[in-house]
Amino acid sequence: MSDIRKIAVVTSGGDASGMNASVRSVVRMATRDGLEIVGINRGYTGLVYNDVVPLDRTSVSGIINLGGTILRSSRCQEIRTEEGVERAKDTLEYNSIDGLIVIGGDGSFRGAHEIRRRSGVPIIGIPASIDNDIYGVDETIGFDSAVNVATRAIDSLRDTAYSHERMFIVEVMGRERGFIALSVGISCGAEYVLVPEIKEDLQKISNELKDSEKRGKRSNIIVIAEGYGNTAEIARYLQSNTGLETRVSTIGYLQRGGSPSARSRMLATSYGSRAIQELLNGEMETVVGLQAGEIKTEPLSSVALRRKELDMKLYELAKELSY
Ligand code: F6P
Repeated sequence: MSDIRKIAVVTSGGDASGMNASVRSVVRMATRDGLEIVGINRGYTGLVYNDVVPLDRTSVSGIINLGGTILRSSRCQEIRTEEGVERAKDTLEYNSIDGLIVIGGDGSFRGAHEIRRRSGVPIIGIPASIDNDIYGVDETIGFDSAVNVATRAIDSLRDTAYSHERMFIVEVMGRERGFIALSVGISCGAEYVLVPEIKEDLQKISNELKDSEKRGKRSNIIVIAEGYGNTAEIARYLQSNTGLETRVSTIGYLQRGGSPSARSRMLATSYGSRAIQELLNGEMETVVGLQAGEIKTEPLSSVALRRKELDMKLYELAKELSY
């Protein structure tokens, strides 16, 4: 029998579609199991400044289809300091919280790792980030939604690319990692995908584009992660080296919001319920997540400190499929 009575849930870092579905699942499974539950507003900022709100089954009605997060979020700088972590610990103590569910990305789990060390409160992480860059987790909440938004947008751009015989350089999110770019690039049949992890030879790409033009190819889509480099400069370089009429389109924050896909909702719901189970089973510091089709757990310390690698087979596949 667990001695956990009261828990808190926080959404932290960049918002991701499906966070609300996850909050809903956490709240409803916690109340089903007789736990009292509160929400921390505004990410870790709310933990540092004791911004806490009671939650019950009805407070999470009608949110499964909403993007963003009803609890709001932040990229809290204070939690990176000793003082901030100490204040977070005080908030947990003051509100008699004996379990914390953190819904967020890699930065949020690094913060969670510190809060756990300082407070001793059990913490279960639920991976939610459009970037899908969390170690030990095959898919984060929000990734599928973001990839779908960008893929549909590029389908529209392709119409203009074809009609006007142009090349489109499409920038998608991913400040440090290329998971979104790679999935979007494959899903929309892009000619090239440029990711921050791998530097490509732009001269070689220009030569290949010229060769394919000679073979009769009239339009191209290049998907580029925002962290690859200066997209406008790359577009200028490719245009002047190939002579192909080029346009740039940035999808940006459109990818972060909007109604979550069914897949993101399913994942969010399953992760939420599993997180409550783990807490009640006495887990102290773990992150739930899909691994080869099953929801498993990974120690918070490894998720916080290790790096997820890009799937190089997928990267090679993207290259092989380009015209
Ligand atoms: O949520 C992850 C992410 O979308 C990155 O890909 C992007 O670079 C970053 O957030 C920017 O977000 P913000 O403006 O909130 O820092």
